[in-house]
Amino acid sequence: MIVLGIETSCDETASAVYDDGTLLSNVISSQEIHKKYGGVVPELASRAHQRLIVPVVEQSLRKAKLKKNQIEGISVTVGPGLVGSLLVGISFTKALALGLGISFIGVNHLEAHLWSWKIGNLSRGKPFIGLVISGGHCILTCVERFGKYQFLGSTKDDAPGEAFDKVAKLLNLGYPGGPVIDRISKKGNRNFVRFPRPGIKSNGYDFSFSGLKTAVLYYLRKHKKTYIEKHIADICASFQQSIIDVLIKKSFDAACSKRVDMIAVTGGVAANSSLQKAFRDRGEKEGIEIIIPEPVYCTDNAAMIAQLGCWKLRNGEKSDFSITALPSYPFPCSI
Ligand code: KG4
Ligand code: ZN
Repeated sequence: MIVLGIETSCDETASAVYDDGTLLSNVISSQEIHKKYGGVVPELASRAHQRLIVPVVEQSLRKAKLKKNQIEGISVTVGPGLVGSLLVGISFTKALALGLGISFIGVNHLEAHLWSWKIGNLSRGKPFIGLVISGGHCILTCVERFGKYQFLGSTKDDAPGEAFDKVAKLLNLGYPGGPVIDRISKKGNRNFVRFPRPGIKSNGYDFSFSGLKTAVLYYLRKHKKTYIEKHIADICASFQQSIIDVLIKKSFDAACSKRVDMIAVTGGVAANSSLQKAFRDRGEKEGIEIIIPEPVYCTDNAAMIAQLGCWKLRNGEKSDFSITALPSYPFPCSI
């Protein structure tokens, strides 16, 4: 089944074409405009989606070497995300589906992230711990199989990506903060400052990262500008290590207690190179398989939306024209 995926939940306008296990195209247009504001400006994001959606979808069809009347279904993100941005993708999808006379399905962005490691991965399914870490979310779940999810924990305040972005802002490193902190940290000493590891001693699976960001803020206030500039790589590496330590502890605890031997780490923060190494090293030691998608499928993309939609449409699920944006669409849950 040839499915067109549309993703407009935040600041990426993305479209992909997926045909039962084969990704035919994956086009992502990242909105550069937000960089100068140090974060996503919702109104500007909606306007940019409006401008970009038609050319991005056309490009994904061209790359897949398909005409639009060859598409058999459409999958679109309905939440969570920015309401104005989501509505652009949803309205576009409804209009296209109506014009072509085909089915469409609204999907949860976090469920799509959770399965993004399956893109191009033909391994057979088995139960796993899914850690979704992005700019807005941090979710730990035990996945028995597709559609059967046991919620374990989530962040009570900031998401890991949000912490990266806010700390990068404090250090004047620009937006988004994750990739730049990742790069700078490579030259730093991760043991230089002992920042807190929030919740690492508790047995629960919830997370909290806002205190860590505040600890970095207080540290910066306490030191001279020249000292901070000299040790910027050490500060970045130390902050990054705190996040990694907490994520590793909770994920491996969950794998042990649920007796599963695989952890899938997905979402934008999963693109972090030190985090990937830390998970793989620990996985090797404990005999737990670590699966992390290629960076392009970690950050927001429409391939994961097309894949999830294809599975659901194949299962006979579809949405009707009453669907609308669900900015706080929870996951895991069923509606
Ligand atoms: O999944 P995503 O593209 O969008 C959301 O659904 O939120 O995640 C974006 C987040 C941003 O906060 C960004 O700073 C972070 O992922 N990120 C990274 C890296 N690449 C992107 N964080 C740490 N290291 C990276 N290499
Ligand atoms: Zn995302």
